[in-house]
This record gives sequence, C-alpha cells and structure tokens, in this order.
Amino acid sequence: MKSLFIYYSYTGNGDFVADYLKQNDFDIRKVIRKKKLPKSFFFGVLAGGFLAGIKHKDKIVDFDEDVLEYDEIVIGSPIWNGRFASPINTVLSKLDLRGKNVTFILYSGSGEGAKALKRIKKEYPEAKVYFLREPKKNPDELLKLSHIIK
Ligand SMILES: Cc1cc2nc3c(=O)[nH]c(=O)nc-3n(C[C@H](O)[C@H](O)[C@H](O)COP(=O)(O)O)c2cc1C
Repeated sequence: MKSLFIYYSYTGNGDFVADYLKQNDFDIRKVIRKKKLPKSFFFGVLAGGFLAGIKHKDKIVDFDEDVLEYDEIVIGSPIWNGRFASPINTVLSKLDLRGKNVTFILYSGSGEGAKALKRIKKEYPEAKVYFLREPKKNPDELLKLSHIIK
C-alpha cells in the first residue's frame, strides 16, 4: 500500500511529523503558501487566525494534486483558530479523495481543534483523525500514530 503525507507547517511541528512518517515509508508533499505570513509570530497568529476563521483558501506554490497512485492519503494541518490552517483549505478543495483511505493529523497547542473535527465529521465521515499536542516539544505524541505506521 502506498501512502502519502500532505501537510502544512508554519512553526515546524508538521515538519517533525513529516520526518517521522518519511522514516516509515510515507511519501511527503509539503504545502507552501505563496505569500509568507508576517515575520512576527504575534502578527502571524492574528493573520492566520483570521484567514482560518473565514475558511480562506490561500494561494499555494506549485501543488501536485495527482494522488492516483496512493491508497492512503494523510493530511497534516496545524490548528488555527480551532480550524484547519488556511493553506490546507486550498489543498482540500483540489484533491480528489474518493475511494482513498483518508487520515487527518492535526497538531495544536491544546491537542484539540473542535471546528476542524466538526468539518471532518461532516465532509469526510470515514476519515481517521489524530490530534497531537505540540509534537516537536512532546515527541511521545507521535506514538498516537502507531496505527498508521506499517
Ligand atoms: C495562526 C495560529 C492560530 C493558532 N490557533 C490555535 C488554536 O486555535 N488552538 C490551539 O490549540 N493552538 C493554536 N495554535 C497553535 C498551533 O496549532 C500549534 O503550535 C501547532 O503545533 C503548529 O504547527 P506548525 O508548527 O506545524 O505550524 C495556533 C497557531 C497559529 C500560528
């Protein structure tokens, strides 16, 4: 079974998860925003929180939306303002996930993300969901992913 991890990361937690999955035979595609978020973390949180709140689809760089060869698609997003990070809204609008085994890995400060979870239950009712609390700081959080590691 071929597996692909598509993810976004602003402060490195998603990259940490990606490294782990790469070591476990996942192919990796990182999503890059066309425009960088403000350098200051404070303004980054304000901007990102706002964009996530309005379900904005950010412009992203050269995204390869062809996932035909994969059986399993894992989508990684930070939680912004309780929701998916806005670049992931773009990804979700482009991907054809019909017939795929879909998993979401959501990383956040609290280990929660109620609005993202609500959206997944509605739009991807079959998908598995894992919440990780700041995995870069808490590497044990990766153990939650043991079910998707072959
Ligand atoms: C714009 C923004 C909004 C955030 N909103 C939330 C939130 O609503 N709830 C939460 O628990 N953490 C929130 N966080 C914290 C991040 O979800 C958390 O640090 C995550 O691990 C970041 O992933 P990354 O390092 O891959 O970007 C927010 C961070 C940013 C930058």
